[in-house]
Amino acid sequence: MNEQTLSLRLERVAAHVPQGARLADIGSDHGYLPVALALRGVIAAGVAGEVAQTPYESALRNVRRNGLQAHITVRLADGLEALEPEDCITAISLCGMGGETMCEILTRGKARLNGRERMILQPNGGEHELRTWLMHNGYRIVSEELLRENRFDYEIIVAEPDAASVYSPEELYFGPVLMREKSPAFIAKWQRVLRQQLQTIANFERAQGAVPLEKQQRFARQVGWINQVLA
Ligand SMILES: C[S@@+](CC[C@H](N)C(=O)[O-])C[C@H]1O[C@@H](n2cnc3c(N)ncnc32)[C@H](O)[C@@H]1O
Repeated sequence: MNEQTLSLRLERVAAHVPQGARLADIGSDHGYLPVALALRGVIAAGVAGEVAQTPYESALRNVRRNGLQAHITVRLADGLEALEPEDCITAISLCGMGGETMCEILTRGKARLNGRERMILQPNGGEHELRTWLMHNGYRIVSEELLRENRFDYEIIVAEPDAASVYSPEELYFGPVLMREKSPAFIAKWQRVLRQQLQTIANFERAQGAVPLEKQQRFARQVGWINQVLA
């Protein structure tokens, strides 16, 4: 992967960035996403935020190598501290981190948001927590995608500030858009998860009461939801 050829995962994230956006990519690593979008003429401006020195330097190098210093600002910063009011950011991408980490970044940095940003989020796990954060913080999930690459399932959640949206526990678990659309990738993922969950429940039974009841009930509830959504 490089700034010319993004992974399928980042390519699908890129597809949700509106033409002319001013994008902040937080946790940008090499900066491939904003650099690719600037080279394609999709974004008007970009900020690549990185908390770690080595990826920060890598993003700086990639921006310079592509002559994009006037378009993309690379900042060594923790989470949304990379945002400055004069950036007038209209879209924020957070990709390739755990959903819980993303919730922490968004909670700590909330005061830096201008209330107009589209969020394009690709968590590695913790999707349920992330959707719950969005629901409790005045976002509506406007689009979702599920894709499989290198034997991993990835979910992309796109949200915009809106009047409070309320999602059911099942919608928070599966994704309100994903469970409505039921794509082949969605069906295949949840068939796999169902097999794993049933195996785990069988292991609980063999453990003869060593597993807390609350945990057993949670797994049983989720199996019920999965059976329903696949029916
Ligand atoms: C696995 S990489 C993902 C890179 C890229 N976004 C992608 O999806 O391919 C996660 C990056 O997030 C950065 N990161 C983690 N916590 C961060 C934070 N609080 N603020 C900024 N960057 C962070 C890490 O240093 C790392 O470079």
